[in-house]
Parts: sequence; C-alpha cells; structure tokens
Amino acid sequence: PHPVVLDVDTGVDDALAVMFAVRHPALDVRGISCVAGNADVDQVVANTLAVLDVLDAPDIPVGRGSEHPLLELARDARHVHGSDGLGNQDLPASSRTPYGGGALELMRLAILDSPEPVTLVPLAPMTNIALLLRAYPEVKENLAGIVAMGGAVAGGNATAVAEFNVWHDPEAAAIVLGAGVPVTMYGLDVFSRVVVEPDTYEALSDDPDPAVALAGRLLAHSHAVIRSDPRVGHGGLIGDAGAVCAVARPELLTTHRWPVHVSLAPGLTRGQTVVDRRYVLGEDSVHGVDSLGHLVDVALDVDVEATRDLFL
Ligand code: BDR
Ligand code: CA
Repeated sequence: PHPVVLDVDTGVDDALAVMFAVRHPALDVRGISCVAGNADVDQVVANTLAVLDVLDAPDIPVGRGSEHPLLELARDARHVHGSDGLGNQDLPASSRTPYGGGALELMRLAILDSPEPVTLVPLAPMTNIALLLRAYPEVKENLAGIVAMGGAVAGGNATAVAEFNVWHDPEAAAIVLGAGVPVTMYGLDVFSRVVVEPDTYEALSDDPDPAVALAGRLLAHSHAVIRSDPRVGHGGLIGDAGAVCAVARPELLTTHRWPVHVSLAPGLTRGQTVVDRRYVLGEDSVHGVDSLGHLVDVALDVDVEATRDLFL
C-alpha cells in the first residue's frame, strides 16, 4: 500500500477522510498530525482518536501539533463543525494516547522511516507542514508529493475570496507552496462538488458497522449546514475525504499546472490563492512579465460520481 501521512483539524469532513484512508486497502496511514483549525488542537486530537476507536483502527500514531497559526490567533469553525468540532456526535472519549513526541517528530519519523516515498496530505491549516519543512528539510527527499485541501481558483468560504485552511494560516500555506515539493491543490472548486445524497447517507446511518453509521450521521450534519449554499449539490459533502480519494486514484482529478501565489496582505484578499491562469507551461513568463507564485497542480475538475462511489 501507498504510505500517507494525514494532517487534520478533525472536523466533520476530516473524520470522513480518516475513515476512508484507514479503510482503503491501497493506503497505509503511517501517522496523523493534528492542528488548530475547525476546533482547538486538543479537541482535534480527542476527535481524531475517537474516530480511530469507532473505526476499530490499528495503532496509528496521532500527534498534537500547533495551537495557533504562525502569526495570528486561532479562529475555529465550530459554527460549521459543531461545538465539539465533530458535528455534536458526542463520541465516547478514547483510551488511546497521543504520540508523546508531538506532531513534527511524528511526521519526521513517519516520513524518514518509510521504505517508500510518502504522500503528505494536509486537510487543515498548513501550520504543522510549514514548520516541518522548515525544521527538517531532509524529509523532502522521501516525499512523493503533497496533496493538500486548500485554496480555490475562484471564490472562498472563510471570506469572499479565501478558503478556510489557507485563510487560517496564509504564511504557512505560502511556505508549503514554495518548499520545492510537488503540490496538488485540491481546492474549493472540486471540494464543493462531491456530495452523498440523503437516501444514501440515511442508509449509511442505519448500517451495523459503527464507522459506516458515523459517516452517515456526519454527512447528514454536513448537509444540514451547507444546504443553503447554491454552489454545493443536494447532499452531504465528503469534503476533505475527496482529497484522499485523489491520492488513492489520481486519475479522478483533472489538474493544470499553474503558478499559485498566496495573498499575505492584510485586508480583503488575505488568504486568497491567486492562480495565474494565463501561464503557459514551458514559458518562463506571462506576456513577458514574470508570474508570481509557485507552480502547483491545481485541481480543476473531479469525476464526481466515481469519487463518491469510491468513498462509499
Ligand atoms: C476546509 O476547511 C475545513 O473547515 C474543512 O475541514 C476543510 O478542510 C474547507 O475549506
Ligand atoms: Ca479539514
């Protein structure tokens, strides 16, 4: 199986992503690092461990990472993910303990000790990933790439133009895009498209497998929250899980390599991913002017049905 390390802010859809990754036979989850985002980092750790319990997962190390973004204060998304950050599911507290060395050491070892290059999958603000790449640049040599949920070609959710994960820690996202590791950006343009319809998530909620039933309830929560967003189809979003689907089956995504720049300026555009769609691969300039940003494989389209079926 292909080795992956997930970085999460569990998170309704992060939970779906963890479930998919742990259950998919072609993926080997070598570790999960946690960061402040949808909820505070201690809640994120507790949620992630509780989800592993429901999955009856093997002993996958879970590390506690950053409590706040590189420069700013943490700003959670409990209005979307519930007061526990996990759709108010009231899961029993886990008896698993987090990895003693913290998230950075966990990721460092999970990557360096892997016999095959690892795909790093940030599904949250990229604070931990930025710190890892700065503190231990040697990990880059055993990375197959980074597949990140973050950003958008157009539009936002945290603000009119910024996606939550990039908006929460724009400096971290800028560091990650510029680190010289191949990045695939699974942004809002594809993230918002893969939904599970009510008939299906209701059937999942009645499944005797507790993990499948939890997935059904999380999808129902997601649908209740995003029902009014005209950009999202009729159903519960698989969200972050779609990025993991794309690791398992990269052909589900249509990508284009474009320069991406993260807006760090204070004000209206902070956290926006500015994608230079004028750029033609192989040419070093756009209309004779250097393009800002680093080349990223930007997901433009996703095979919605195949991704949903793979997730299910
Ligand atoms: C991202 O923000 C979080 O709320 C979700 O878990 C996802 O990772 C979407 O903008
Ligand atoms: Ca997330």
